[in-house]
Amino acid sequence: MSDVLIFLGSPRKNGNSEVLAEAICRGIEKGGDSYEIVRLAALEFSPCIGCGGCDKTGHCVLEDQMIPLYEKIESARRVILASPIYFYSITAQAKAFVDRCQALWNRKYLQVGKGVWQQDSDRKGYLVAVAATRGERVFEGAILTMKYACDAMGLIYGGEFSVRGIDRRGEMAGDLATLARAEEFGRRCLD
Ligand SMILES: Cc1cc2nc3c(=O)[nH]c(=O)nc-3n(C[C@H](O)[C@H](O)[C@H](O)COP(=O)(O)O)c2cc1C
Repeated sequence: MSDVLIFLGSPRKNGNSEVLAEAICRGIEKGGDSYEIVRLAALEFSPCIGCGGCDKTGHCVLEDQMIPLYEKIESARRVILASPIYFYSITAQAKAFVDRCQALWNRKYLQVGKGVWQQDSDRKGYLVAVAATRGERVFEGAILTMKYACDAMGLIYGGEFSVRGIDRRGEMAGDLATLARAEEFGRRCLD
């Protein structure tokens, strides 16, 4: 199992959020830790259907490529969701993934109900996000979603690495100063 699990939320291959995530991965590697990248847009999985099946069991009734991810999430020390901002939130692919974490939310709160849940303070989640505009509030929706996703995944929200004013494909790759900062973020995210 990898120390850091990175979910790519963009439907765009080699897009800006992916370039940023790759810089973070270089930092993770330099820090001597391991990572695994999961490209959500390449997976076949359904959005949550709200059937309530996981309410009593903590397990999702759907049989698709989301299922193996639950175990990976539970054993990762860090989970990073890297997504561009779409309409002041994360992408549809990333949101479908977050919604499917409802099963983990139920799994956790079933344990809370039995008094056996224990928060591991060394399990953290981060949002990595890129937006075209420079609006002060452009990341607020995504941050709020990721905070609640972390709660479901049993992670402490560790913060975000967000970049404004990046739009065209290839633009992120040209911002070497930000990529250097992202690498440093990756190197330190397991501290
Ligand atoms: C459907 C769609 C919605 C978007 N909505 C926003 C938005 O609300 N605010 C913003 O600043 N940028 C928005 N953008 C721009 C993307 O966040 C930007 O192009 C980003 O760099 C794309 O990252 P990627 O290459 O990783 O996909 C939107 C782009 C698309 C395609």
